[in-house]
Amino acid sequence: MEDIKLDAYKLISFDKIVSTQDYAHDLIAKNEAVNKTVITALAQSSGRGRYKRNWVSHHGNLYASFIYKIGERDPKLSYAVAVAIAETMIHFGIKPQIKWPNDILIDGKKISGVLIEYANSFVIVGIGINIGTCPTVKEYKTTKMQDYVKVSVNDVLSVLIKKIDKWRNADFVIVRERWMDMAAALNKIIKFRGKDAELIGLNEDGALVLRCDTRYILTYGDEISI
Ligand code: BTN
Repeated sequence: MEDIKLDAYKLISFDKIVSTQDYAHDLIAKNEAVNKTVITALAQSSGRGRYKRNWVSHHGNLYASFIYKIGERDPKLSYAVAVAIAETMIHFGIKPQIKWPNDILIDGKKISGVLIEYANSFVIVGIGINIGTCPTVKEYKTTKMQDYVKVSVNDVLSVLIKKIDKWRNADFVIVRERWMDMAAALNKIIKFRGKDAELIGLNEDGALVLRCDTRYILTYGDEISI
C-alpha cells in the first residue's frame, strides 16, 4: 500500500485488493475516512458493479473509489461523474457517449462504469475504466482506451481527478447540458421495462424523461437498453 497526496487528494494505492469500494466502506466504518480520498488498485479480486454485478478487474485498468464528505445525498452527482469520465476520454482524443445514467460507451461499447454508494456522511464514487484490457461480458460489448490511444493508468487517473473536481462543483444546468450533448440514443427509441420508449433527456431535477406513446415518464432509477 502506498499513501501520497495528489491535487489535495489523499491517494491510497494498492497493487491488488478485494475491492476499492469495500476498502472505502471499511475506512468510513472505522472513522478513518477523510474528505477527498482516492483509493486505487491495479487489480481487484472481487470488484463490484451496479445491481450486485461482478466487475471483472484484471491488471491493466483503472479501479478507483473517491470518498467525499457530504451534507446530503445528491442524485445529480452521478451525471457530473459521467461527464467527468467522458471529458477524460475527450482529453485523450477519444469520442465518448454516455448511456444513462453514467455508463461511458465508445463506438457503442462500454469502456467505463460508475458505482455510487453512501455510508454515514460520505459518498463513495467507484469508477472502473478499461485501459489495457477489457473483459468479455455477456450483457454488453466492451472496449478499452488502448485500442484508440497509447495511455497509461496513471495518465488517466491524473486527468480524471481534475475533471471530477471540476464537474462535481459545476452548476447542474451546465452538467445537464454537457450530459445531453454526449447522451447515447437521445431522441431515439430505447427499451425501458421491456417496452419501447423515446429517450427525451434529463429534466432540471436530474430525472430521465422518456416518452411512451403519448405519456411522459420520469425515472431516477432503473436501467435502459439501447
Ligand atoms: C458498473 O456496474 O457499471 C459499475 C462498475 C464500478 C466498478 C468500480 S471499479 C472501482 C470500484 N470498486 C469496485 O468494486 N467497484 C467500483
